[in-house]
Amino acid sequence: MLGLKLPTDPRWVNIVEKNIEEILTDHAWCEQKATSTAISLIVQFPEHTELVQAMTALVKEEISHFKMVHDKILERGWVLGRDRKDEYVNRLMQFFPKGGSRTTHLVNKLLYAALIEARSCERFRLLSEELQDKELAEFYRKLMVSEANHYTMFLKFAREYGNREEVDKKWQDLLTFEAEIMKDLGKKETIHG
Ligand SMILES: [Fe+2]
Ligand SMILES: [Fe+2]
Repeated sequence: MLGLKLPTDPRWVNIVEKNIEEILTDHAWCEQKATSTAISLIVQFPEHTELVQAMTALVKEEISHFKMVHDKILERGWVLGRDRKDEYVNRLMQFFPKGGSRTTHLVNKLLYAALIEARSCERFRLLSEELQDKELAEFYRKLMVSEANHYTMFLKFAREYGNREEVDKKWQDLLTFEAEIMKDLGKKETIHG
């Protein structure tokens, strides 16, 4: 699914289930970061009109996801906690060497975003299928559908702005690297943990 080379062990959901407050807190911040990434693409690459239009729409969608998760936290009588460290994203973003041309920088940023969306989507699917809490399972099913479009959109832009062959090679290498990272994860009650 989604081109990912290593599926998440479904037992990750058993860990999540023991601490719903923690997964919702981490999830809310993932949506905030998705919003921030879309804004930063607008700020850094204003000349790419099609991208600016798509990112403007994405900002609205991701911040509405943030609100949906925030509302879930409030419904359950909790208050949003501080941002959590995302070990997965921090490790992933060390893959491409720093520097390079402006186009390289754009392509790399788009590929990171595509992969984070793909893995998040996979995790949402697992939650939608495995959570005992049926209300929350349904919540994740709906989110999974919208996140699946984001992964394909970022990949499409990367192929459009970069050299198709080079981008496809980079994407495959990034997927392989990500699978290595995932071997150590799946043990924490966070979206990418
Ligand atoms: Fe989202
Ligand atoms: Fe997204």
